[in-house]
Amino acid sequence: MSTILTDNYNRFHDYLRISLTDNCNLRCFYCMPEESYEFTPASRLMQADELFSIAKLFVDLGVKKIRLTGGEPLVRKDAGAIIRQLATLPVELTLTTNGTRIAQFLPLLKESGVKSLNISLDTLKPERFSVITRRDQFQVVYDSIHQLMEQNFHVKVNVVVMKGMNEDELLDFVVWTKSSPVHVRFIEFMPFSGNRWTSNKVLTWQEILEIVGNEYPIVPIAGAAHDTAKKYHIPGHAGSFAIISTMSNNFCSTCNRIRLTADGKLKNCLFSSSETDLLTPFRKGMDIKPLIEKNIRSKKKELGGQFTQDFEKIEATELTNRSMITIGG
Ligand code: 5AD
Ligand code: SF4
Repeated sequence: MSTILTDNYNRFHDYLRISLTDNCNLRCFYCMPEESYEFTPASRLMQADELFSIAKLFVDLGVKKIRLTGGEPLVRKDAGAIIRQLATLPVELTLTTNGTRIAQFLPLLKESGVKSLNISLDTLKPERFSVITRRDQFQVVYDSIHQLMEQNFHVKVNVVVMKGMNEDELLDFVVWTKSSPVHVRFIEFMPFSGNRWTSNKVLTWQEILEIVGNEYPIVPIAGAAHDTAKKYHIPGHAGSFAIISTMSNNFCSTCNRIRLTADGKLKNCLFSSSETDLLTPFRKGMDIKPLIEKNIRSKKKELGGQFTQDFEKIEATELTNRSMITIGG
């Protein structure tokens, strides 16, 4: 196997996350930048055939898992065609979605061999959902999650936990895992360009464990090598919960993830300040492997080299990055 995807810290990157678009039909305040945001015009995005060729190149270099992200991947007009094409590659194919378009895509997801999906849902209260996302779509998302579980998909629900916003709902989410085989993942709130992050809005892994632990007996579940989530089980519950502790206890040392933005830029870390344009040279017919290699070699040891575990000191406005909607998580 080629070593092009190995970085200077001996991390091999076999998990590629591809953003299909920076467009979205929701308006989550922590994801969209505060100022008015213009979605990237379609001509600047990787076209379906370009996306497939570049993805295939990564698979040839050793990628084993591809996750489609956004914005919202399923708002892209040719999302179905792209999923069908990528399903022909020898990879585990999955996606992270806001869950608003699942009903239309269910048959296609089944046919394409997608087995597991991550769905973003930060609240179980319909009114609060409208405040967070500025769209009235709670019931659609909630029903879709249940529909997916009925069809035997493995469903993980991503909950971005923000103090003063939804920290009072942790136990409601845990109650949901009792009767439903849903896998809830509480994510520590992370800073991105223009997302109004402040350190006092972060509820940490330990704080979350304490809140849940005061009500339930918690059993840790052993994780796999590259897991980002610390997983827990509660005896008698059909589902489980997990915590993604990016801020208080990062998992950079075992990172195997790289990202391709919708406009064809390679990002070696969620928090990297730089990125490598692959699409422009690809369109010129150049060999992009040396560019990929150089990008991976420049990957920083942790958190894009931009901050440390001491997250209280971070000034979100001083970070150099894209906003979440153009990264896709
Ligand atoms: N902090 C933590 N998680 C975030 N996500 C989006 N923005 C943030 C943030 N600032 C989550 C979304 C989605 C996943 C891709 O990342 O909820 O589920
Ligand atoms: Fe859309 Fe997801 Fe961003 Fe919300 S978090 S605006 S659903 S891409």
